[in-house]
Amino acid sequence: MNVLIVGGGGREHTLAWKLAQSPLLGKLYCAPGNPGIAEVAEKVDLGAEDVEELKKWALDKKIDLTVVGPEAPLVLGLADSFREAGLRVFGPGRTGALLEGSKVWSKRKMKKWGIPTAEFAVFDDFDEARYHLGRFYGGAVVIKADGLAAGKGVTVASGPAEAEQALYDIMIEKAFGEAGDRVIIEQCLSGEEVSVLAISDGNNLITLPSAQDHKAIGEGDRGPNTGGMGAYSPAPIYTEQLARKTEDEVFKPLLKGFKDEGIDFRGVIYAGLMVSGDHFKVLEFNVRFGDPETQAIIPRLKSDLLPLLLKAADGNLGGIEVEWSSEPAVCVVLASKGYPGHYEKGLPIHGIKIAEEGGEGKVAVFHAGTAIKERHLVTAGGRVLGVTAWDSDLKKAVDRAYRAAEEIEYEGCYYRKDIAYRAL
Ligand code: AMP
Ligand code: GLY
Repeated sequence: MNVLIVGGGGREHTLAWKLAQSPLLGKLYCAPGNPGIAEVAEKVDLGAEDVEELKKWALDKKIDLTVVGPEAPLVLGLADSFREAGLRVFGPGRTGALLEGSKVWSKRKMKKWGIPTAEFAVFDDFDEARYHLGRFYGGAVVIKADGLAAGKGVTVASGPAEAEQALYDIMIEKAFGEAGDRVIIEQCLSGEEVSVLAISDGNNLITLPSAQDHKAIGEGDRGPNTGGMGAYSPAPIYTEQLARKTEDEVFKPLLKGFKDEGIDFRGVIYAGLMVSGDHFKVLEFNVRFGDPETQAIIPRLKSDLLPLLLKAADGNLGGIEVEWSSEPAVCVVLASKGYPGHYEKGLPIHGIKIAEEGGEGKVAVFHAGTAIKERHLVTAGGRVLGVTAWDSDLKKAVDRAYRAAEEIEYEGCYYRKDIAYRAL
C-alpha cells in the first residue's frame, strides 16, 4: 500500500515514523517533507497547498491513501478534490474543515448543537466592535480573527486597550488579511487547557489519549505564545469522568450535527478544552492532528496506525480495536534563539543520533524546522526539533527527554525546562 503524507513538520515526521513501522506499508511519500522525514519516506517536491499538482502526482503514483497533516490544504478543499478523483484521503472536506477554518462558523455550530463554549459576539465593522467592547464580559475578553491566521489570530486581552489594539490590528491593519474581515469578541475563560483528539470516519469516533500543550515561550507559561514548546500525554487533569462528559457533550453532538448537515467528516477532530474542576468549555476545534501533541500521543500507540487511518478514510472504523501504551510520553520542543520573534536560520545541528541511541529505545527525535545545507543538517525554522521520550512514569519520561535534549547542539538552542510541570 502506497501512502502520501502532506506536510513537513514535527507532526508529519511523527506520522511518517509510525506509518513506516506498518507491515501493510509499501512505499511512503511525503510532500514536501523535511530531512528527518526523508529517513523514512521519499520526499516529494510539492508544497502542502499545491492541491492540483498533488492530485495529479497522487493519481500518477497510484497512491492508496493520502494523510493530510496541516489545516490549510483541508480548508482549500484538498480532500474534496482528491475524493472526486477517486483517491482515498484521511482528512475532512472543505465544509468539515470550516470547523477550524472559520471561528465564526465553528462557534455558531457549537451554540446550535449545544456544545459548551464561551459566550461570544461576531462583528464585521471595526467601530461597532469597538463600541461594544466595553459592554462584554466585564473587561477580560478574547479577540479572535475569523479565518486561519497561522495560530496568531487570537489575543487574550489583559484590558480594554489591548483588546482595542487587537481589533485595530485585525480589522483595520488587516494583519491577517481576509481572515480578519470578521472578528469574535469572546468571554475570557480561566482554568487549564487540555487537547483531546478523536479520529472520525463520519459515523464512529475513536478518542485518543489526552495531551497538554505548552504554548508560551517561557517557563511557568510566561511570555508570548508560540506554535507549542512541548507536550505530554496523558494529561492527568483529564479524568475519566471528564472524558465521559466530553464524549457526551462534545463529540456526540458534534458528530450528530455533522450528520444532520450532511458533512461526512473523515479525519481528526481536535477539541481544545478549558478545564476548571469538573467543568469544561470548548475553546476551539481543529480538524487535524495537533502539533506538538501528536509527537507525544502517537508514540504511545501500540496498534498499527495505517489500518486506523485507512478505515477512517473508508468510513469503516466500527469495531476496530486500538491499543495504547500505559507509559506516559513527553515531547520537548527545541527552538531557535529569538523565536517566536526574529531568529537566525542555517545553523549546524549535531547530536541527534547520540540523543536517540542513548534513549534505550524510548526516545525519538522528530524534525520540524530543519534543512540540509552543503550536506549538513541545519536549523530552518523557529521550532527546530521535538525530542520525545516515554517511560514507566511521567517523571522518568521527563528526565529521559531532557537527557536526550542535552545531547543536541546548535547555536542558540532554546527549550523550556519545565515541560509537564503541571502534572508533576
Ligand atoms: P484558539 O485558536 O481559539 O484555540 O485560541 C488560541 C489560544 O487562545 C487557546 O489555546 C487559549 O490559550 C487562548 N484562548 C482562546 N479562547 C479563549 C477564551 N475564551 N478564554 C481564555 N483563553 C482563550
Ligand atoms: N498545539 C496546538 C495546535 O496544534 O493547534
